[in-house]
Amino acid sequence: MEEKIKEIRESIAQYQGGSVEDFKHHFSGKKGAVTALFDEFRDMPGPEKAKFGKLLNELKQYALERQQEIQDQQESSGPSTGPSDPTLPGDPHFNGSRHPLSIVRNRIVSIFERIGFTIASGPEIEDDWHNFSALNMPEDHPARDMQDTFFFPEGLLLRTHTSNVQVRVMENQKPPIRILAPGKVYRNETVSARAHAFFHQVEGLYVDEGVSFTDMIQVLDYFAKQMFGSHTEVRLRPSFFPFTEISAEMDITCMICSGSGCPVCKHSGWVEIMGCGMVDPAVLQNCGIDPEQYSGYAFGMGIERITMLLYGVNDLRIFSQNDVRFLQQFQSLTPY
Ligand code: DAH
Repeated sequence: MEEKIKEIRESIAQYQGGSVEDFKHHFSGKKGAVTALFDEFRDMPGPEKAKFGKLLNELKQYALERQQEIQDQQESSGPSTGPSDPTLPGDPHFNGSRHPLSIVRNRIVSIFERIGFTIASGPEIEDDWHNFSALNMPEDHPARDMQDTFFFPEGLLLRTHTSNVQVRVMENQKPPIRILAPGKVYRNETVSARAHAFFHQVEGLYVDEGVSFTDMIQVLDYFAKQMFGSHTEVRLRPSFFPFTEISAEMDITCMICSGSGCPVCKHSGWVEIMGCGMVDPAVLQNCGIDPEQYSGYAFGMGIERITMLLYGVNDLRIFSQNDVRFLQQFQSLTPY
């Protein structure tokens, strides 16, 4: 026994270059030489035990010290020391992914850009005129209650919709006008799975001589087929918006069940995706465009709503939680 202890001590002293795992394998691990000696020791008669116990414990202590040294060396020289195993799989490398709302916004934008719409933008901190009054919602108009508003002092507010961009563009450009305005909007809502205090919309506006309701239907039908697939049908339902006359809401065949009925479309086969209509002549007039000469259509849609329908997301809040487990699922759709 004494001889063996000496030999192992010698080997430990001379051990060089391996990894901690390798050292354990040879000496201090479950199947190492030191452990094996302890097994032998256990079966020894009492008097011998007294003789070797101390030596063996010293050996064990020595082995553990060496193990610690090797570990320290390994850590200080980084992961590349020690025998490397080329058969191990590489570390996964995650590229960033676009946010799903950006993916959907970019798709919407590119569909309309293909038919000549250009991008316009307007301020998120807006005045009463551009958010409400010019859009045919004078003070005390009941339609203002449709959109709970965050007000600042001095008559400013956070825009409740991207329709403010319609007004700003019409005030500054002469027809023909053909713009798309994606952007962030704000409403004084309690945050829940179905409502949020901020979300995103895309506004569209087309004003020229002789623009008709049929032109609008053509364009929106083209959009729906490009966005949701060529089999997609659209339908319009009469609605009310103060800034359009006539006004409508547009539904498309439910992309989950293709119209046969499911929980997402509440078994109707249709889902609503936007509001639209012919720009009210009073709005054209407010913006300095002669309604006798020009007509136009406008539409507005919620990006969150479309994203939820497209990807089966059922809680709005997840869009602003920055949970990479959610965001990484959109990697294959990046870049868009
Ligand atoms: N601004 C409306 C909203 O936020 C959406 C909308 C409806 C915009 C009809 C339009 C329109 O341009 O024509 O609820």
